[in-house]
Amino acid sequence: PQYFGVFVPLALLLHVCEGAWCQHCFLLRPVPGDGLPVEALQEDPDPALDPTERDLNVTELRGLLGARFDPRFMSASPPQEPPDSPGSRNRRWLWARAACPVQHAWSDLGARFWPRYVKVGSCSNKRSCSVPEGMLCTPARAAHVTLLRWRCRRRNALRCAWIPVQYPLISECKCACPS
Ligand SMILES: *[C@@H]1O[C@H](CO)[C@@H](O)[C@H](O)[C@H]1NC(C)=O
Repeated sequence: PQYFGVFVPLALLLHVCEGAWCQHCFLLRPVPGDGLPVEALQEDPDPALDPTERDLNVTELRGLLGARFDPRFMSASPPQEPPDSPGSRNRRWLWARAACPVQHAWSDLGARFWPRYVKVGSCSNKRSCSVPEGMLCTPARAAHVTLLRWRCRRRNALRCAWIPVQYPLISECKCACPS
């Protein structure tokens, strides 16, 4: 078990994107339809469709989300991010994932989401994660958080409301063949 952290990444690195290995690579890809990373929504930029100050009553919105409000991943105000302390987590587990760690960063989703600041994950694909080169870090798993989304519909009159939506956050990256 002591050597587990050494052998796993070596096994990952030895995968090659050609020949028989490629079938294995398919297994490593995220399930299609995961919607990762989240694509930019087609938004009507009309400011009349934005929530007003009256629609942004924190007490009410907090009540709407209830227990689904997760301060680890969401914030109503611009977050002050403390620096990551690498010693604080399971180091060996991290080592095994070192080829493709999830990178976390706060993202501002805009006024039509509440809370509007969400800690999203991403997979670095600046360079290949395999030897020989060819494979890239790609999303492998998502965790969903519930956010409120301001949505307007125009029937007879304009009607807008906060509705709960499931928002996927990348929670795991894997070294895999590019699609
Ligand atoms: C927010 O909503 C609560 C509960 O409905 C209400 O008591 C409070 O006055 C509201 N605050 C503001 C600033 O409108």
